[in-house]
Amino acid sequence: MRSYREDRDHSSPSGPWWRVERFEKVPSELDWLSSEERRHLNRLRVEKRRRDWLLGRWTAKSALLRHPYLSSSSVEPCDLTVRPAADGAPEALLRNRRLPVSLSLSHRAGWGLCALAPEDMLAGCDLEVVEARSSGFLSDYYSDEEQAILRSEPDLHMDQIATFFWAAKESTLKALRVGLRADTRRIQVSSSAEPGTFGRWTRLTVQDTESDLSFGAWGRMLGALATVVVTSPPSREPSKLDGGL
Ligand SMILES: CC(C)(COP(=O)(O)OP(=O)(O)OC[C@H]1O[C@@H](n2cnc3c(N)ncnc32)[C@H](O)[C@@H]1OP(=O)(O)O)[C@@H](O)C(=O)NCCC(=O)NCCS
Repeated sequence: MRSYREDRDHSSPSGPWWRVERFEKVPSELDWLSSEERRHLNRLRVEKRRRDWLLGRWTAKSALLRHPYLSSSSVEPCDLTVRPAADGAPEALLRNRRLPVSLSLSHRAGWGLCALAPEDMLAGCDLEVVEARSSGFLSDYYSDEEQAILRSEPDLHMDQIATFFWAAKESTLKALRVGLRADTRRIQVSSSAEPGTFGRWTRLTVQDTESDLSFGAWGRMLGALATVVVTSPPSREPSKLDGGL
């Protein structure tokens, strides 16, 4: 087994960072969970929720253990706890001390995504399946400006852009720590992306019209999933935290 310390440092020292994991890679032996996390897991009854929650913890720890902040310390996965703060947003603790990082999680279709950024940055991420969205969905959840952009696109491209816009909205509402309790139309997304450009990180711009905060958003396809990482203030494209545990 390779040590995470050998190969984790392909990343920028300033962030943001990202990492994905597959559910199949989550160890079935649960000694990588902290005791607080094991107690939490024991309270989860719905199988899908248990799987998503485990995938989220594994992906977060996998990212944190490769993060430059932990590079010089001897840390085992069970020394870390990833738990919700009072507002629901995840936070990471190392032996009960909060780590100075912004952390965001998403899980979809057996994939887990974690975004990390320095604690003075807001950060959010989301994974979404690219799919057609009805015109009712567009008018309920997208601003007039976004709908005009989407309706000017051919159908196939529209599905992809609409999915990226949705993932950017959800990522931003996670970065703001409110989630989908808020009206998604307050988040205004735009992009000059061409079809095919989402094979690599492609820039989107995001404005929260309520707080007037600007976000930088980066989107790319990961297999069939649209992947988005957002930060405020806007930042360079996310660096992958690479290597196996
Ligand atoms: C946050 C939210 C947008 C996530 O959307 P989703 O499509 O279900 O799930 P994703 O896989 O993309 O993201 C899930 C992660 O979001 C994170 N999250 C939850 N609440 C959050 C918040 N207020 N702010 C930031 N992140 C949050 C969690 O880390 C969660 O993963 P975990 O529970 O395994 O730790 C959604 O759950 C939400 O809006 N929650 C707040 C409102 C609420 O509590 N509604 C009750 C359920 S309808």
